Amino acid sequence: MLSLLNMHTFRITTALVLFLLNGFVAVNAATITRGPYLQLATPTSITVCWRTDEATDSRVQYGIAQDALSSSKNDSKMTTEHEVLVDGLTSDTRYFYSVGSSSKVFASADENQFFYTYPELGTARAVRIWVIGDAGGGNAGQEQVRDAYTAYTGKRHTDLWLQLGDNAYKSGTDLEYQKKNFEIYTNMYRKSVSWPTIGNHEKDLAVYKKSYALPTKGEAGGVPSGDEAYYSFDFGNIHFICLNSMGDLAQGGSQWMWTSNDLAQTTAKWIIAYWHHPPYSKGVHDSDKPGSIEEKTRTIFLPLLEQGGVDLVLTGHSHSYERSFFIDGHYGVSTTFDPVKHVKVPGDGRTDGKGSYKKNRGNNQGAVYVVGGSSAFTTGGSLNHPANFSSQNILGSLVLDIEGDRLDMKFLTDTQQVTDYFTIDKTVNGIKSSQP
Ligand SMILES: [Fe+2]
Repeated sequence: MLSLLNMHTFRITTALVLFLLNGFVAVNAATITRGPYLQLATPTSITVCWRTDEATDSRVQYGIAQDALSSSKNDSKMTTEHEVLVDGLTSDTRYFYSVGSSSKVFASADENQFFYTYPELGTARAVRIWVIGDAGGGNAGQEQVRDAYTAYTGKRHTDLWLQLGDNAYKSGTDLEYQKKNFEIYTNMYRKSVSWPTIGNHEKDLAVYKKSYALPTKGEAGGVPSGDEAYYSFDFGNIHFICLNSMGDLAQGGSQWMWTSNDLAQTTAKWIIAYWHHPPYSKGVHDSDKPGSIEEKTRTIFLPLLEQGGVDLVLTGHSHSYERSFFIDGHYGVSTTFDPVKHVKVPGDGRTDGKGSYKKNRGNNQGAVYVVGGSSAFTTGGSLNHPANFSSQNILGSLVLDIEGDRLDMKFLTDTQQVTDYFTIDKTVNGIKSSQP
């Protein structure tokens, strides 16, 4: 009887050990299949995301030196979709980091795996922003545009990057996001926070919302939207407004009301808005088309944004580069554009040309509208919208630099040529504005 009991205990113990061992091996056999990638940065926090092929717990180790990751955040929940909030951080500071489980590091810190917390609200420090549109082709063009920017920016850190929709053709499936977005931009994702918007090819919103951790409660500044599809955030003295042009565009509707409230609330020096469908385009999509989304964004949202003091509007959808004059108040079709009435400051906006666009304080003082939808494909069009100063059927991306009172934007082609550029200057009559 005793020996039978002993045998039974032995079998149970052996089974338990094997079970635990299997679990340990499974956790340790897991590998990273996406990321790490950075989301939702603020002056004191950031969200670090990655995906594993098997469920594990989550650990982010971090510190200000690459070889001393002295702090960590842990989440005991077993998952393949890891999303760890790292908070309690110092603003405008670089942290190196690794991601893994409680028993294994999946991606170690190195000279290209770090994040910066954002500067305090109102801080006027130099910012570099990369902007891509309609980029998810998974083709040679997408890689050429990426490589041209990587070479151009060199060691200059990209503080943040915007994706203007159609981020993974053709339907924004999980596999398409994996192959045509996350695996193409791996090096950018691990050190620069991306703030995407939704295009007409993001057909699976559940995939989009699962892939990204975007604000809903005003976590990164601005008024809470309650929806990851549209949101705002702050970087120093810049307020960014991301709209969902595939969503409710009705005047007085939920998104319109939120935009109105958000504009009323911000005190930032610069306001940059972005969404997918262009208000002024004669590319493959014609913004004159009656009843189009393009027309709705122009007639319903532009009056609101201009009244709220917007400086720059970035869109995609047409696979071309189109950049407007410095304009205000043009909400009709292209034939109603009147340079005398709608151009606030004439010229090319170039400091080595006709001069930068000097912008006065107050609302309705002018803005530039840019279509940057050629980050993977070019599909032409008549490209002759009269509101646009420059229209080019060339692959490329946008490079945006802002420091204090000055904003510079360049169109950088896939062969590293700068074929259009302009400056907006908020120094009025030689006087720096009182805002930082
Ligand atoms: Fe599109």
